[in-house]
Amino acid sequence: MILAPSLLAADFGNLQQSIEMVNASAADWFHIDIMDGVFVPNISYGMPVLSVIQKHATKPLDVHLMIIDPDRYISTFAKLGSDILTVHYEACTHLHRTVQAIKSEGMKAGVALNPHTPVSVLEDIICDIDVVLIMSVNPGFGGQSFIENTYKKVYQAKTLIQQAGALALIEVDGGVTLKNAPTLLEAGAKALVAGSFVFNAPNPTETIASMKLLA
Ligand code: DX5
Ligand code: ZN
Repeated sequence: MILAPSLLAADFGNLQQSIEMVNASAADWFHIDIMDGVFVPNISYGMPVLSVIQKHATKPLDVHLMIIDPDRYISTFAKLGSDILTVHYEACTHLHRTVQAIKSEGMKAGVALNPHTPVSVLEDIICDIDVVLIMSVNPGFGGQSFIENTYKKVYQAKTLIQQAGALALIEVDGGVTLKNAPTLLEAGAKALVAGSFVFNAPNPTETIASMKLLA
């Protein structure tokens, strides 16, 4: 399994320290949540903070854009070292074009689905994308509780990918803990994002290690 701690839950006053903790841990990716206050009712951080993250991080940057009209910033996020750039299905009028633009900048392309968006909307694009990001909370905030319907959606995504002979990886984001992670992995998830469960733990490094032991 791939574990991607979400820096949204890190202590921004000691960001470098949190990044170095993840560098030295068993985690695989940095999950970076970019929010615009329009697509979601919250604003997180933007380019200057991402450039600090890029400077210190030694693992791939998994950037999750919760912004409208993401096409405007694709090349900026490529320059800022994003390895995976995920856009929301709900925020893209011409999703296929957006996905091609992400790939042409040399990044892996992800598409995120809100809890109310059915997996079937990806039927005609599943072979073109690298990551399906299934939101297990309504995007905008860390620390929310996991929506149980997610298990079913992960399984549906797995089936869609298999039937199409596609290679996309399934990632789950929101309210992930050691309690729901095993069932998510069983249902077909490969990458799990964990924010508060990691950073609010008494020992984040150990929490990462115990999640990584799941698979
Ligand atoms: C929510 C973000 C998540 C969030 C996860 O909008 O996309 O990545 O940081 O945080 P937890 O794990 O606390 O739900
Ligand atoms: Zn996220």
